[in-house]
Amino acid sequence: MTRPTPKTFLVKSFGCQMNVYDGERMREMLGAEGMTPAEPGADADLVVLNTCHIREKAVDRIYSDIGRLLKRSDGERPMIAVAGCVAQAEGSEIQRRVKEVDIVVGPQAYHNLPDLVAQVAKGGHALDTDMPLLSKFDTLPRRARRQGPSAFLTVQEGCDKFCTYCVVPYTRGAEISRPWAAIVEEARALVEGGAKEITLLGQNVNAWTGEDETGNMRGLDGLIRALDRLPGLERIRYTTSHPNDMTEGLIQAHGDVETLMPFLHLPVQSGSDAILKAMNRSHSVDSYRRLIDRVRIVRPDIAVSGDFIVGFPGESDADFEATLQVVRDVDYALAYSFKYSPRPGTPAAGMESQIPLALMDERLQALQALLNEQQHDFNLRSLGRRTSLLLERTGKLPGQLIGKSPWLQSIHVIAEGAAIGDMIEVEIVSAGPNSLGGAMLEMAAA
Ligand code: 5AD
Ligand code: SF4
Repeated sequence: MTRPTPKTFLVKSFGCQMNVYDGERMREMLGAEGMTPAEPGADADLVVLNTCHIREKAVDRIYSDIGRLLKRSDGERPMIAVAGCVAQAEGSEIQRRVKEVDIVVGPQAYHNLPDLVAQVAKGGHALDTDMPLLSKFDTLPRRARRQGPSAFLTVQEGCDKFCTYCVVPYTRGAEISRPWAAIVEEARALVEGGAKEITLLGQNVNAWTGEDETGNMRGLDGLIRALDRLPGLERIRYTTSHPNDMTEGLIQAHGDVETLMPFLHLPVQSGSDAILKAMNRSHSVDSYRRLIDRVRIVRPDIAVSGDFIVGFPGESDADFEATLQVVRDVDYALAYSFKYSPRPGTPAAGMESQIPLALMDERLQALQALLNEQQHDFNLRSLGRRTSLLLERTGKLPGQLIGKSPWLQSIHVIAEGAAIGDMIEVEIVSAGPNSLGGAMLEMAAA
């Protein structure tokens, strides 16, 4: 049965920032095909769910979302595409489970989305979970001419580390770096479109390597130094990093590259060497601590952020206590913490001594209480500080604008005469657990 070609679309992204980036590129691509984004609240002809497979809860959400799409008040149903990591991991199983899913497209194949839509319009289902190396970047349209002040740029994908809990090596494939010239070109297009801040993305972003324009092999620090020279680009960030790929050059860059923001997301996952070994993290708690110390020597005010998993199989009370201890020692400005979720096909899912849910809950609460306290303390220490603020969106109060400090804290400000996209100077006048209040001093010189 043929179906009308969709005119409007909605792309909904879940999970990590790389999915947010992929979602943006899908929107730009569908737009280039002549489709328009559905108005907020209106039904779309094509709904793309750009999914995350990292924890079981994230996967469950997708199926409940599809259920909701099938219960539209007008009795119609949109063309439904499941993209992202669930698509890669579950493939045609999704269409077996929910026959109304028209398209399944993996994270390395979404440049084919328009073809898949055309295929479905002719009748039937479509599936593409191929993993061609990097070819999607060659076929996607050039970045849109209008960008928000803060943009993402994927420079690296995939993972060869094989942490025993993690699906990423299976859903995103092997580690691969995008070429230097393509990245610099995309960064330039983003800045031309209005971006003042770029966050370089990769599952292991600090493993990025590539040849510069003179043919020399460079690491992420080399790329950051090149982007630092791009006129109009005022802030550079990168995420997510693995401790083993934190090179001396990258640490040094934090000391002398002015546009590189004083923020480092460096997950440790656990404070116990025995658990790190079972996780196949291939670093120790001590080597992690020393790494943080070295970064703090070159950039004393750096905000350190991390990820933690509680309740990994075999985690004893003493192991968990060691995690609390590393948190106390490092003193995080921000952190994400999760209950261990067994993922199909990963080695840890088959390990003995899985931890009961109630104990995981208890540990997560204790860890989060400590992390929240540290985050609040970090914010309180910002009181009185004068800093730059990149305005990104409007707030709830009249005249209020919200943006980020160099340390990635949200700052609310009443900024008369300023607009989204402006970089202004503020003094921090209030500090809550999750955000700061600023008073505008002046517009920063562009
Ligand atoms: N269970 C719980 N948390 C996980 N993460 C990755 N895999 C799992 C899992 N199976 C967490 C890690 C990682 C972050 C992105 O998600 O902390 O750094
Ligand atoms: Fe989720 Fe990982 Fe896929 Fe990102 S790469 S969407 S975190 S499974």
